[in-house]
Formats: sequence, C-alpha cells, structure tokens
Amino acid sequence: MLLENRVAIITGGTKGMGKAMALKFAKEGADVVVTSRHLDEAQQVAKEIEKLGRGALGLKADISKSAEVNDMAAQTIKKFKKIDILVNNAGGVDVKGGDTTDATEADWDHILDVNLKGCFLCCMAVVPYMKKQRYGKIINLSSMGAVHPAVSVLHYHAAKAGVIGLTINLAFELAPQNIYCNCIVPGPIETPFWDSLQAPGPARDKFFAELCKKEVPLGRMGTPEDIAGPALFLASGLSDYVSGQTIYVAGGQPLNAQAATFLSAPK
Ligand SMILES: NC(=O)c1ccc[n+]([C@@H]2O[C@H](COP(=O)([O-])OP(=O)(O)OC[C@H]3O[C@@H](n4cnc5c(N)ncnc54)[C@H](O)[C@@H]3O)[C@@H](O)[C@H]2O)c1
Repeated sequence: MLLENRVAIITGGTKGMGKAMALKFAKEGADVVVTSRHLDEAQQVAKEIEKLGRGALGLKADISKSAEVNDMAAQTIKKFKKIDILVNNAGGVDVKGGDTTDATEADWDHILDVNLKGCFLCCMAVVPYMKKQRYGKIINLSSMGAVHPAVSVLHYHAAKAGVIGLTINLAFELAPQNIYCNCIVPGPIETPFWDSLQAPGPARDKFFAELCKKEVPLGRMGTPEDIAGPALFLASGLSDYVSGQTIYVAGGQPLNAQAATFLSAPK
C-alpha cells in the first residue's frame, strides 16, 4: 500500500472529489480526517473509512474561518499525533454570474475567502506540524478556469489562479524542510459542484455533452476517481522528486485548439 501509516486531512471530503480521495487514501493505508461545514456529513464519511479498517475523524470546519481551521489541525494532532498529507479540496462557486456585468464586491470577498484564503489558512494551520516532523505533502485544487476559462467568472478564476501561485511559493519555501506542495487543475468533473450552477437533469446532460465535444479532447466528463488517482500519486512516495508542479487532470485540456481535430478524426 502506498500510504501505510500516513495521516491525511481532506477538506470538503464528504462528496465529489474529496470523498473519492478520502476513500482512495484509506484503501491505500492512510488514516483520514474528513472535514466539512456539516458535522453529520463528515462523521458519515468517517464511518465509511473506519469500515475499511482505518482510523478516521469527521470534523466540522469552514475553511474560511481561521478558528475552525486551527481546531481542525489541533484535533487531528490530538487523535493521530501527526499530519502527513493535507488536501485543500474544499471550494466552489455558490453565486450566480461573475463577469464584468454582474460580479459584485460581496461575491468577490466571499469567493476569494472560500477558494483562496481558505487554502492559505489550512496551510498555515498544518505546516507548523509538518515542519516539526520534517515531512509533508500538500495538494491544492485549482481549476482549468484559472488558466484557460471557457466562461467568465472573475472571482472564482482569480482565486483558483491564486491557488497556483500559493502552491509555487509554498513549494519554494518549504522544500528545504522536506515538505512538498503541488496543485491539481481539474477539468470538468461530474460532481455536486455543478448543482448550484444547473440542476441535474436532461438539460445539464446536454450541456455536458456539448462541453465535452467542444472542449475536452478525451470527449467525456471526468469522474471523482479520475482525480483521486493523480492525488494519490502526489500524496505518496511515488512523487518524492516532485514539488511546485501544476498537473492538469482535465481530459487533455488545455489542448482545446486541437480538440476539433481529435474529435473529427476517423475512429
Ligand atoms: N467539479 C468540477 O468540474 C471542478 C472543476 C475545477 C475545479 N474544481 C474544484 O475542485 C474542488 C472539489 O470540487 P468538487 O467538484 O468535488 O465539488 P463538490 O461541491 O462536490 O465538493 C466540494 C466540497 O467543498 C465543501 N466546501 C465548500 N465551501 C466550503 C467551506 N467554506 N468550508 C469547508 N468546506 C467547504 C463543500 O461542502 C463540498 O463538500 C473544489 O475546490 C472545486 O472548486 C471542481
């Protein structure tokens, strides 16, 4: 197993990619702390992890609130005595619009708090423990929109671009202490992330089909498991000479220019 005796924190680990990573890491031997804004949901996933024979803890933590984030780190240390892996997964866009016609200052502050400040706060809470043990793997979740937007969502894409900058600076600062920091850039992944933008149903399925045809060279939506594999690589010893990197897990994006050629090529 790739994560035997490791302790991982996964923020927003109750659904979507976070849950897939939590279960994957547990199957590879890690004890896993799952956090969410909803305690009952976090505890439910913790129970699933315990059924796999691993230690688990479900905690309530809004990543945009430093007191809750610091408590998350303290409770992890209390139960497991160390933190080897931090996945800054929690995030999303729970507001409408976001281009130059309708972005508001309030939305900007909220989206930046959740998608960039939250990532910073979690790193600040966990890194002191990683420094003491001279080991740590941090994985941050950005977005394809940060580097190659298909629609204009100023606050979310700026926040996710900031996550890439934060990753590079942390990797640079912390490499001498054997702490790694890398970033995953997901393409379109079918998770509850999309629910606040469009309700599940035939219209959304049609939108996904068109999106994949136009923009994803591999021609399909990603699954949470498509993210969990590369995350396992970055969390494990398989990546012990990799830090400060941004990995696109995006079905071939951003090769958009070639997508039409890919899709029209004879099968
Ligand atoms: N699904 C996609 O297509 C996609 C694409 C690019 C990037 N992303 C990013 O990947 C990450 C995972 O997304 P997902 O698709 O699994 O989404 P999801 O909505 O299924 O899961 C995100 C989780 O984060 C939690 N969360 C949101 N705000 C939080 C807060 N303030 N404190 C604590 N938890 C909070 C949510 O409750 C949820 O459990 C997110 O950072 C998202 O922005 C998603």
